[in-house]
Amino acid sequence: VGKSVVAMALAKNFAEQGRRTLFVELGQPAYFGLVYGFRARYQPQLISSNLFHAVWTGEECLREYVQHLVKIPKIADLFFDNRVMRAFVRAAPGLKELAILGKLTSGIRESGPSLPYDDIVFDAYATGHFLALLRAPLGMGSIISKGPMGTESRRIIETLQDSQYTKVYAVTLPEDLPVVEVVELKSEIEKILNVVPKVLCNRVYGLSKPGPESDSGFAKFLSDVWYRQSASLEKLAAAGPFVQLPMIMKASARDVIQGLQAEVSKT
Ligand SMILES: Nc1ncnc2c1ncn2[C@@H]1O[C@H](COP(=O)(O)OP(=O)(O)OP(=O)(O)O)[C@@H](O)[C@H]1O
Ligand SMILES: [Mg+2]
Repeated sequence: VGKSVVAMALAKNFAEQGRRTLFVELGQPAYFGLVYGFRARYQPQLISSNLFHAVWTGEECLREYVQHLVKIPKIADLFFDNRVMRAFVRAAPGLKELAILGKLTSGIRESGPSLPYDDIVFDAYATGHFLALLRAPLGMGSIISKGPMGTESRRIIETLQDSQYTKVYAVTLPEDLPVVEVVELKSEIEKILNVVPKVLCNRVYGLSKPGPESDSGFAKFLSDVWYRQSASLEKLAAAGPFVQLPMIMKASARDVIQGLQAEVSKT
């Protein structure tokens, strides 16, 4: 639906306003490594003025946190580089998710290695996977009532729930299924985070209403697109306010991002 390009357009706008910005992608292979031609890594690297890029995995976030706690890298390595521990980290429900959200909120919570940015733009997963990520600290916080794990989990979710820190953008398309999905996603995010997501409907064709002559060939095709798109936009409007982002007629993601920058700045 364009989550990554929209996220990058937002990040570029922050950076161009002079804000020190970190763009975070989850998992490998990193999309923007391919788009901008660099080798994406866990440690942030400067990709343009004020804009840093990092790719996070649950395992690396956890390893870095443990290293920070024990201070001695060799002990952290001992902790992770044995089969039992590796199997545990892979299988423990919610642990990797908790590590990612722990890292994301660590600057505000002043816990863990420093994260010196004005803005962090987090290119999150698609709907179901993203909700599972958000629910991880809720689950941990309620299962583990005592001890540092429970306390950290609750602080992570409280930080995310603070609208002073968190803004959520939900990207969709003017099509039937994405509209149904984003309406559900919006209400779930509101329940979990108490933050109302901004809905962005991406790839909207700038077509005018077809006239009666549009009944054959390409004109007929465009007329079908217009009617389908209008029906979806109407359904989306019935569920609350949203912003339209245009279809940018460019082949490369770089140009699409550039085209979207002016549009997302209006949001
Ligand atoms: N407004 C737009 N106009 C033209 N092309 C677009 C627009 N938005 C996205 N695209 C193109 O659509 C493709 C998918 O975009 P993107 O990778 O951002 O989607 P995504 O939601 O992040 O996908 P994934 O779920 O795989 O992470 C890219 O090639 C991108 O350039
Ligand atoms: Mg993406």
